[in-house]
Amino acid sequence: MKVLGIETSCDETAAAVVQDGRLVLSNVIASSVAEQAEYGGVVPEIASRRHIESISDVAIQALADAGLSAQELDAVAVTYAPGLIGAVLVGVNFAKGLAFSAAKPLAPVHHLRGHVASLYLTHPQLAPPFLCLVASGGHCHIVQVQDYTRFTVLGRTVDDAAGEAFDKVARTLGLGYPGGPAISRVAKDGDPAAYRLPTPHAEGKYNVSFSGLKTAVLNIVNNANMKGETLDVPGLAASFEHNVADILAEKLALAAADTGMHTLALAGGVAANGLLRRTAQQKADALGAALVLPDLQYCGDNAAMIAAQGYYELLAGHTAGPDLNGYATLPMEQAYSTLPK
Ligand code: KG4
Ligand code: ZN
Repeated sequence: MKVLGIETSCDETAAAVVQDGRLVLSNVIASSVAEQAEYGGVVPEIASRRHIESISDVAIQALADAGLSAQELDAVAVTYAPGLIGAVLVGVNFAKGLAFSAAKPLAPVHHLRGHVASLYLTHPQLAPPFLCLVASGGHCHIVQVQDYTRFTVLGRTVDDAAGEAFDKVARTLGLGYPGGPAISRVAKDGDPAAYRLPTPHAEGKYNVSFSGLKTAVLNIVNNANMKGETLDVPGLAASFEHNVADILAEKLALAAADTGMHTLALAGGVAANGLLRRTAQQKADALGAALVLPDLQYCGDNAAMIAAQGYYELLAGHTAGPDLNGYATLPMEQAYSTLPK
């Protein structure tokens, strides 16, 4: 089954064709990130406008790269939640127009379910159940993936998402947007023991918190500025990165030990973080568990992961009609069919 995926929930306009949820036939991404960087973060209005301008070209390119016409597709899949609502709606409307004019089924895909499906693109043999840390710019969940379309969120952030913490700290340190890669780059030359940062406590065994950590960094920067001291930026970036990687990998390991899951996984933009990948590997090794990681090209937002998840949603009978709407927030456990119309 060949599925065209459409993704527009944040600042990437993406379209991809994936066969049977595993084989990527094309994967096209147009990003407004360079323009957004000038503002230090994503401006929703700009994101929506860039999606409108790019979506047709990106989808046409994805079909051309796959060597297919719209008629040769078996289905269209689209991110319908969660995300910047104006941005999400561009993709939803485009996908509806394409699916119904070509008389193809339309699969509604939850963005975080899509991030989980990025693992299937990299590991053709991977099948649920497994335990996945989904860490992106807007979310941070520890998820029990019971089946391709059944999820239980065991833990989550009680305040900032992991990627958001990277972005905010990078902005405080003047490192630009997006913060994750910028912090990693600078941290390479830093001593992770340069600063002692707190591990904020979060209510709930598998929950995490980053806001206290972000405030601690801010206080260090303000103190240094007030006293006229030179800030050790690489050291602070390295201390922060180590702290976040430890917090995330430890929670994943704790949930794995308690649930007895033998396969652990990372997904989402933050899963591109090299230190997090290494730390999670050490934790998995210590537990005697396997760790599966998405290929770097599938960590950030892309439409191949949406097409992959769309395939499994279709197999489960999850299709949408012309009344499909977009949603800014939606729990990943919730099935499309249970949404109030
Ligand atoms: O999944 P994603 O592309 O978009 C959302 O769904 O939000 O995640 C973007 C987030 C940003 O906050 C970015 O700073 C973070 O992922 N990120 C990273 C790295 N690459 C991207 N965080 C840490 N280390 C990285 N190498
Ligand atoms: Zn994402």
